[in-house]
Amino acid sequence: MTDVKQLRLGILGSGKGSNMVAIADAVAAGTVPAVIAVVLSDVAEAGILERARERGIRAEFIAPGKFRTKLDEAAEMAYIAALQAAQVEVVVLAGFMRILKGEFLRAFANRVINIHPSLLPSFPGLEAWRQALDYGVKVTGCTVHFVDQGIDTGPIIVQQTVPVLDDDTPVSLHERIQQAERVAYPAAIAALARGAVTVRGRRTTLGQGR
Ligand code: GAR
Repeated sequence: MTDVKQLRLGILGSGKGSNMVAIADAVAAGTVPAVIAVVLSDVAEAGILERARERGIRAEFIAPGKFRTKLDEAAEMAYIAALQAAQVEVVVLAGFMRILKGEFLRAFANRVINIHPSLLPSFPGLEAWRQALDYGVKVTGCTVHFVDQGIDTGPIIVQQTVPVLDDDTPVSLHERIQQAERVAYPAAIAALARGAVTVRGRRTTLGQGR
């Protein structure tokens, strides 16, 4: 354990931060050889900032600028600068509700990962649990994937399935998916931190690593 390098993570989120908490707990428990260098949010009052600060993790609000679904140019540069200043190696999107493209993905090429609340490529985009319920699928789940220029299209690292029950509501289904997320995201980050993830085109393999 002592010779395993600690991967420096920067976590971006807009919401309550349950994924960030699961990752922080796994880091604290020693099951993920990483350190959360900084948590950033585009929402000043987001729970994720509060949850991070409670744990002694540096957490900053950075205003997203004038657009609704992406960062404007100045904001993008501010996010890149904050992550670079914290010497972040892998950017972890945990409910960050803005699309990252161009300059950001060039600054962290192949080093941005995301969790999505469905089994991609089904139900990309917003409220994937509601899309799954409306479509009538019997199984859904969550996907951890690398971020590329598309929306929820990058190579898949880990997926975990979740049943859809007859009496599910959007809230109950999202909660069950989030329970799966709290297992899948730390597992994917642990594999990355151990150097166990190999990417060949669209396909990834999770080997033994270090
Ligand atoms: C998670 O369920 C995540 O999958 C979803 O936002 C939630 C954030 O929860 N992300 C997306 O929908 C991205 N398209 P959290 O703030 O409790 O981690």
